[in-house]
Amino acid sequence: MATNWTPGAWRDRPIQQYPAYPDAAALGRVEDQLSSFPPLVFAGEARRLKEKLAEVSAGQAFLLQGGDCAESFAEFHPDNIRDSFRVLLQMGVVLTYAGGCPVVKVGRMAGQFAKPRSEPVEVRDSIELPSYRGDIVNDIEFTTAARTPDPERLLTAYSQAAATLNLLRAFSQGGYADLHRVHRWNLGFVDDSALGERYRELADHIADALTFMEASGLTGATSPAIARTEFYTSHEALLLCYEQSMTRVDSTSGDWCDTGAHMVWIGDRTRQLDGAHVEFARGISNPLGVKAGPSLPPDELLELLDVLNPCNEPGRITLISRMGEQIGEHLTKLIRAVEREGRVVVWSCDPMHANTVKSSNGYKTRPFDRILTEARRFFDIHQAEGTYAGGIHIEMTGQNVTECLGGAQEITESSLADRYHTHCDPRLNASQSLELAFLIADTLKRSRNDHTTRVAEAS
Ligand code: PEP
Ligand code: CO
Repeated sequence: MATNWTPGAWRDRPIQQYPAYPDAAALGRVEDQLSSFPPLVFAGEARRLKEKLAEVSAGQAFLLQGGDCAESFAEFHPDNIRDSFRVLLQMGVVLTYAGGCPVVKVGRMAGQFAKPRSEPVEVRDSIELPSYRGDIVNDIEFTTAARTPDPERLLTAYSQAAATLNLLRAFSQGGYADLHRVHRWNLGFVDDSALGERYRELADHIADALTFMEASGLTGATSPAIARTEFYTSHEALLLCYEQSMTRVDSTSGDWCDTGAHMVWIGDRTRQLDGAHVEFARGISNPLGVKAGPSLPPDELLELLDVLNPCNEPGRITLISRMGEQIGEHLTKLIRAVEREGRVVVWSCDPMHANTVKSSNGYKTRPFDRILTEARRFFDIHQAEGTYAGGIHIEMTGQNVTECLGGAQEITESSLADRYHTHCDPRLNASQSLELAFLIADTLKRSRNDHTTRVAEAS
């Protein structure tokens, strides 16, 4: 347990990206209310995820983390939750089957509402208003009323997170995720494509394997892993008044746990060593993600690890690199520093956030090729360093959106306008997500074979 720590100690530290709430008393009342609400997850579940991530850090599993850039109140619908979940299931089976590796599935879901922004204000036609900071803070509409941070939104976010998590638990445990349904996870608009075909072939193989296993006496009743899946939730721990309100003492261990999600991460813009976000995160026992962009020097990373994981507990830290074209130069340095100091981390790749560009017709987009390139280079670099590339972190949706350029559907600049729905960053659609999963599965299989050979040769 962290020493000299309380859930509110972050309030004495410098803080980045914090909304200017005009009515502190109203915010305080909402925080009190939230603190009395039921936890969304149990500390025991967060502990279990940490154990799973420890397996990832040891090269025995792969982390798949994905979901919306920002969940929104307007798009809150069971079909949207189901469709994102089913694409993650599909990606999971592709990685498990083609990559031959157990997959730990973590959604950027059920709480991913708060967004860091590059500018605190937005100016349109010489009118200046606070930037949109995610639906948990304010509304995207460009009016003074909509952009004023409103504490009541924390309560709406909590109830949406609770309902989303409830549905995700039902989907993962109640039959939807049964491997016998593997064919039915293909979404209509993907089904007709070459990728849909590739997925169907893989699903046929899985169905054959299940028939064989059943004949041998292994069924969903005898082997729960066939009928159910484990699914965890995560979000950026950005809006600390919300996170503090969800933080409770775990009666089993006596540790503090942020019960708003199984895992939370610190963003690339809020990872200052003496800052509020690091201070908050160091005291909760959840598994933590740390985003690592090109501006993170190796020494500072080691200092962050000292603060966030002083006992070098496996599974505690997932380093999510988001480097873009500079990945070769920067990731290698981080890996060498971590290896030199004997630190245990999960190495995960976010190939999205450093590959955002503006299209000639004004859309914030991401070229799919650049996303694939960063993911490929991530694996190559780990291969060269003899370390394990353990995970992928993506912004995706099950909807047939046109937000990222390219992919098998060949989305062009002019087709971005067709279905551009994101509230924040451009997301991979189901087809692009599946394409990425197949690419990673091939690479994973190769790199795991090499890793196993190296370990065998060393022993
Ligand atoms: C995000 O994951 O949505 C995000 C803002 O990423 P980063 O902190 O890496 O920029
Ligand atoms: Co984003």
